[in-house]
Amino acid sequence: MTRVIVKIPATSANLGPGFDTLGMALSFYDQYEAEVISSGLEIKIVGEGEADIPTDESNLIFSTLKLVFDRMGKTLPPLRITCHNNIPHGRGMGSSGAAVTGGIMLAAGLLQPEIVLTEQQLLDFATEIEGHPDNVAPALFGGLTIAWKDETGPHHKKLSVHRGISPLVLVPPNQMSTKLARSLQPESVPHTDAVFNVSRSALLVAALTQSPELTFAATEDRLHQNYRASAMPETSRLIEELRAKGHPAVVSGAGPSVLVLEDDPAKRAEAIKFVEREFSTWKALPLAVDFKGASVERQSGSGV
Ligand code: HSE
Repeated sequence: MTRVIVKIPATSANLGPGFDTLGMALSFYDQYEAEVISSGLEIKIVGEGEADIPTDESNLIFSTLKLVFDRMGKTLPPLRITCHNNIPHGRGMGSSGAAVTGGIMLAAGLLQPEIVLTEQQLLDFATEIEGHPDNVAPALFGGLTIAWKDETGPHHKKLSVHRGISPLVLVPPNQMSTKLARSLQPESVPHTDAVFNVSRSALLVAALTQSPELTFAATEDRLHQNYRASAMPETSRLIEELRAKGHPAVVSGAGPSVLVLEDDPAKRAEAIKFVEREFSTWKALPLAVDFKGASVERQSGSGV
């Protein structure tokens, strides 16, 4: 029987100034398995979301997998899908991007060896379903990614992150809806704010790849965080307090988690102590940058 196992990293998008553009893969993973069975569809969720994620055809991993098969002109075989979910949901750590990426990679694994999807096809499918490429690009390819779209579709450039960067994700107990966060964005922004973010996001690419000591200056933002602050006041307060102490803290994705891009493990330990003392309901996850991105293992079988 054919069995495909995929491992997908959590991601943090925006990274402060790089709204809808920059993203980073983190060493925190969901693992999904698809096994070809004799009939029907079985979906089992273990871990995050096991009480509320649908286990029928509306399941995001399944609907993504099916879309890829449909587009490639293939009939989906009966499947047993098992999801080992670690990435917290609704926290700005790329859980929906991971589900979409996972569905695509399961499809890619099941379609092999008859069909081998290209990197561009993977990104096209993922962006079509997720809407914007800043979470799915690092989930697929790992590292730090710059993602953009033009008339031909989504594109990405993957970069290696400097070894001096020590990411820390701070996760609150509450969730935030990306849809709500996006509804708080204005239609247009002052030109000075646009220039401000162009300078900081350009600087951030240099800081994360060459000069970690610049991450504090490079993580300022005027395009999204303030507009969304009213929907996540505790996130704003934590970022303000961490930045007042010199920690390069930003909203992770659409929030409400906080990402701190420290340039020194000792400073990261200080930030963790502060959060444990002053924001005790928040969970601190000291992580590494994942450089590999989504991985696929295919066991036996000869295509479908
Ligand atoms: N760039 C997106 C946003 C990330 O901030 O809305 C969340 O998917």
